[in-house]
Amino acid sequence: EWILHNGEFIRENELNVSKEDRGYQFGDGIYEVIRVYQGNLFTAKEHIDRFYDSAEKIKIVIPYTKDVFHKMMYDLVEMNEIDNGQVYVQITRGEAMRQHHFPQVTSPVLVAYPKKVERPVEMMEAGVKAAFVEDVRWLRCDIKSLNLLGNVMAKQEAHEAGAYEAILHRGEVVTEGSSSNMYGIKNGVIYTHPATNLILNGITRRVILELCKEQGITVQETAFTKTEALEMDEIFMSSTTAEIMPIIQIDGQNIGEGVPGELTKKLQQAFEANLK
Ligand code: PDD
Repeated sequence: EWILHNGEFIRENELNVSKEDRGYQFGDGIYEVIRVYQGNLFTAKEHIDRFYDSAEKIKIVIPYTKDVFHKMMYDLVEMNEIDNGQVYVQITRGEAMRQHHFPQVTSPVLVAYPKKVERPVEMMEAGVKAAFVEDVRWLRCDIKSLNLLGNVMAKQEAHEAGAYEAILHRGEVVTEGSSSNMYGIKNGVIYTHPATNLILNGITRRVILELCKEQGITVQETAFTKTEALEMDEIFMSSTTAEIMPIIQIDGQNIGEGVPGELTKKLQQAFEANLK
């Protein structure tokens, strides 16, 4: 396997990361996960734009143009002969003597590697269970930060409860999933939290909103509560890896009939058609 390190393709055993890399010590960096379908990077431009936006928000300067960066991602996929899979890419503020404030001179450290992974077709057909977990993350969830403790703790809590995803809520208000965006459907209208600082504006979310426009499905970027969630006709989540995933149960309570809903299935079909 070839991995990318600061613009060079190397073998994994050649990778050196400093004990004082700020990503390692502080989670001082940002990342992206980009899906590969049939050897092509799906919505590459949107992921690359968000990668640069996240970096800018924490004042990391990526030392490549977007075109060069795109080419590197493309080469990584090709050199590793990835058909269906994903690319993980992160950039940290780099190596510096441990102190909280930014070092004077920084050379960011970029690492990217691909992985073969099939689409989760069975789960998308059957639907998954979710669990409510209080959203105790910070107030800049719009940044795709390497600091994922809040997300990791939430996912673990859901996992221990036998659920696939945690539905995060700040007080009564549902924000998003621990690694996904969240949607509720009531009387044919799709509700989802607006793209504020309280959620990550998913690329899959943006694709879904676009598909809804094309299909004439009404979307309201309005948050819903936990109580409202349980009364929805359908609930689904979205992410690069999970695509459009029906949620059929929350904390043991059925959503609708406890099976994937019609509108969710329609969206799944539209999403799949969009990949070809
Ligand atoms: N997670 N919200 C959060 C908190 C996320 O971590 C993610 C993605 C999303 C969905 O974004 P997108 O549609 O662009 O993948 C929403 C990635 C897949 C991960 O951490 O593995």
